[in-house]
Amino acid sequence: MAKFSRRDFLRGSAAAGALGTGILGSVELEAAPKTQVGVGIIGPGAVPMTFRINGDTRQAVLEPRVTLLDALRHHLDLTGAKNVCDRGTCGACTVLLDNKAVYACSVLAIEAQGRAIETIEGIGRPGKLHPLQAAFVEHDAQQCGFCTPGFVMAAKALLERNPRPNLDEVHVGLSGNFCRCGTYAGMREAVLEASGADEAEPQRRRRRRKEQADG
Ligand code: FES
Ligand code: FES
Repeated sequence: MAKFSRRDFLRGSAAAGALGTGILGSVELEAAPKTQVGVGIIGPGAVPMTFRINGDTRQAVLEPRVTLLDALRHHLDLTGAKNVCDRGTCGACTVLLDNKAVYACSVLAIEAQGRAIETIEGIGRPGKLHPLQAAFVEHDAQQCGFCTPGFVMAAKALLERNPRPNLDEVHVGLSGNFCRCGTYAGMREAVLEASGADEAEPQRRRRRRKEQADG
């Protein structure tokens, strides 16, 4: 399989400097694959691809230039990951690749084959929400909701590598995602609550006091 990702391009451009770790936070651009010698060229025409998404095997015929985000949204009917910047800066498109949060707009679909892809559709559904989704609802951690799937997936990746983060670690863990509505405080509380971390308790108590005061 040809190994070439958008990362290769970004790495060689001036834009790569602006996409340093300070901006990316906990969501990572895929590492550039090593150049392979003697590997056949694929494309530019569409080729069959097979993906493992939310435990299911899915197939599509795509040009090698298609990003994972476009493959999910336009070819596989999985529209939970959102396209906002399409350039690896906002986190709205965050999905998990082998349990690691990545920007789906910055991964080529062809590179995601053979890896475990997890999207927001795979972690819960109405009536059976994932604990993180339930905590986001409980803490009013969304307004327009457009950024929310990306934040939930980034939070899931955080809790998988650090099941009991403190508030600072939650702050860093979500720092690769932007919310234009500014719901960060609620989201951090939600992640702490979903983790069962002790730091969530004072926040729960504050919330209960406020609810009692509001009647
Ligand atoms: S749409 Fe992928 S990071 Fe913004
Ligand atoms: S809830 Fe609107 S952008 Fe985050």
